[in-house]
Amino acid sequence: MAYDIFKLLHLLGVVLLLGNVTVTSIWKLYADGTRDPAVIGFAQRLVTITDWFFTLWGILLLVVGGYGAAWLGGMDPLRDAWLVWAEALFVLAGIIWLGVLVPIQIRQARMARGFAAVGVVPRDYYRLGRLWIAWGVVATVPLLAAMWVMLRKGW
Ligand code: HEM
Repeated sequence: MAYDIFKLLHLLGVVLLLGNVTVTSIWKLYADGTRDPAVIGFAQRLVTITDWFFTLWGILLLVVGGYGAAWLGGMDPLRDAWLVWAEALFVLAGIIWLGVLVPIQIRQARMARGFAAVGVVPRDYYRLGRLWIAWGVVATVPLLAAMWVMLRKGW
């Protein structure tokens, strides 16, 4: 029973994390497409807010549930190859997120605060937006690969 609860938490985390990453990219693309500073500024603010609500909680649940289930199920996260692979892929996605995506978001959020005053979206904002989408797709690949490894308990 306790094992199933941890696994459920783990899977809830996976759903929140992957769900937010994929859904956010679509509505952000459409918001940028309006070229309206008010819409884009609001969407940019929501990127930050949904990260706090969904990405962060997704990561926490994924980690607590995953390691809790592994511990209760007698699995070894340092020796069982499928777990080591999942951890490596998860860390890789995290490095891209923290090292590339979050810094881009911070720059865009700073720019967005100026939209209201000036009423014009700078060209650089759109360039960063395209970069953010491209790197977001790159960061999703290791997460999908981790899902595959988890389901198959190996490649
Ligand atoms: C970070 C380290 C991770 C640990 C320690 C971990 C641990 C676990 C454990 C113990 C299970 C239960 C296995 C079973 O009941 O047979 C599991 C299942 C699962 N995990 Fe992870 N996991 C990790 C990362 C991930 C990631 C990054 C994803 C996907 C983004 C993921 C997706 C899944 C899925 C879909 C299942 C259900 C597989 C099934 O029952 O067939 N896990 N994980």
